[in-house]
This record gives sequence, structure tokens and C-alpha cells, in this order.
Amino acid sequence: MTSGTQKKITGSTAVNTTAVSTDLSANLRRLDRLANLGLVSASVAHEIKNGLVAIGTFVEMLAEKGEDKEMTEVVRRELRRINALTSQMLRYSAPKPAAFTKVRTHELLDHSLRLLEHQMSGRLITLKREYHAAPDLIHGEEAQLQQAFMNLFLNAVEAVGSNGEVCVTTGNNGAHLQVSVRDSGPGIPQENLSRLFEPFFTTKKNGTGLGLAISQRIIEEHRGQIEVRSETGKGSVFVVSLPHE
Ligand SMILES: Nc1ncnc2c1ncn2[C@@H]1O[C@H](COP(=O)(O)OP(=O)(O)OP(=O)(O)O)[C@@H](O)[C@H]1O
Ligand SMILES: [Mg+2]
Repeated sequence: MTSGTQKKITGSTAVNTTAVSTDLSANLRRLDRLANLGLVSASVAHEIKNGLVAIGTFVEMLAEKGEDKEMTEVVRRELRRINALTSQMLRYSAPKPAAFTKVRTHELLDHSLRLLEHQMSGRLITLKREYHAAPDLIHGEEAQLQQAFMNLFLNAVEAVGSNGEVCVTTGNNGAHLQVSVRDSGPGIPQENLSRLFEPFFTTKKNGTGLGLAISQRIIEEHRGQIEVRSETGKGSVFVVSLPHE
């Protein structure tokens, strides 16, 4: 899978439009990752805390057996310290109590897509919008939802590379609003499908493998879910379902 022919721009004399758009998209990606960082440290802290519970239980079992009291005490103290540190990490990096508001999904999607339009047309990628959801209102935090969709759009564009199509479709499905992001890229091999949402799973040379993990977390925080269907050679579609407002 290629992420296209992005040129690195050195110096400040890049004036032709292709270079400017590449620079913009590189900046967007950097911003995107920065915004992801808070969520990542929160989820790492969370995982560490879960692991500590198991270790703590094991240490208490050893303590009850009266084995190596001195060492048990040292480990206990270290556990308390790591626990306090991770709690602090969680407090600082966990998303603030989400500022949920009414969100107009189509506006939100358009806003994110606008940031990528230039990049897409430069690579001869046709962007199709098929907005059928009515109403399109959901209850959520705009910035986070935008982040979640942006990760999907970036993946779609990266998968297509050049000369292809990205199609964003919305619709209503009972109490849920659905957003599908379909691309005409190479598709996802069966053996990777179950690993896509794992943090740090990536097949890209410069990927961090965090995009989908973050998107999934955000969507789940909005009581929604995200699914993927793909076949090698036939492109991929990511479907996000979110409860209506
Ligand atoms: N639309 C897609 N088509 C094909 N493969 C995809 C698509 N979206 C995701 N993938 C696969 O899933 C992997 C994980 O995606 P994810 O967005 O989490 O990380 P990344 O894109 O590799 O890196 P990052 O998003 O951090 O820059 C990708 O490396 C790629 O192999
Ligand atoms: Mg990605």
C-alpha cells in the first residue's frame, strides 16, 4: 500500500501549489497525531492500571504465603508508586468531561472533507458524497468526531494512492445514523482484518498504527460502533453507526 508520492519540502521557498498542498497535508497529519496523543496516553495508562491489578493480586498471594517478606514489601511500594503515576497520567490526559452538543453530521463531514479536497484532486481521486440521512443530528463532541472521521478519510486517501474514488455515504438505520467511507484502494487482506483496530498495527512505512484505534475509541465513547468490510482487490468500506440525537 502506498501513501502516494509525498515530497518533503525543505526551506521556505515552496510556492507551487502541489508543494503547498503537500505541506498542508503533512501539517494536518501532524496535528492529527498531536490531537491523538492525549487519548493515547490515557489508553496506555488505562492498560497499565489493568495490568497492575493482576500483579498486585499475585503479590498479595505471595505475601499471604509469607514468602520473602522484604522483597514483597519492595514490590508493593513500587506498585503503589506506578499506580499513583498512572492515575496522574489519566487525570491529565483523559478527555475532559466531553462537551456534547448537537452535531450536524453532514456539516461535520463536509468540514473534514474540505481539508482533504485539494489533496484528493491533486491525486486524481474522485470524492463522492451521498448524503441520505435525514435527520442528520447526533449528540457528541464535534472536535472528537471530526478526528474520528478524519482518520478514516486519511486512510481511504492513502489506500487509493492516486486515480480512484472515495465515497462518503450517510443514511438512517433505526435509531442510528450510519456513515460509510468507501474507497477503491487495494482492500485489506483477510489476515489483517481482525488486527486493524489494535493500537500500533500498521502496514505503512511511516504509519503509527494509531488512527483506527483512536477512531474506534472515540466512536465507542459516543455509544457507537465502527465496522469494516473489505476484500483484497475490491476496496474497503468502514461503517460508523452513531445513535441519533
Ligand atoms: N481504507 C483502507 N484500505 C486498506 N487498508 C487500510 C485502510 N484503512 C486502514 N487500513 C490498514 O489498517 C492499518 C491501520 O490503520 P491505522 O489508521 O490505524 O494506522 P495507519 O494508517 O497505518 O497509521 P496512522 O493512521 O497512525 O498514520 C493500516 O496500516 C492499513 O494496513
Ligand atoms: Mg491511518
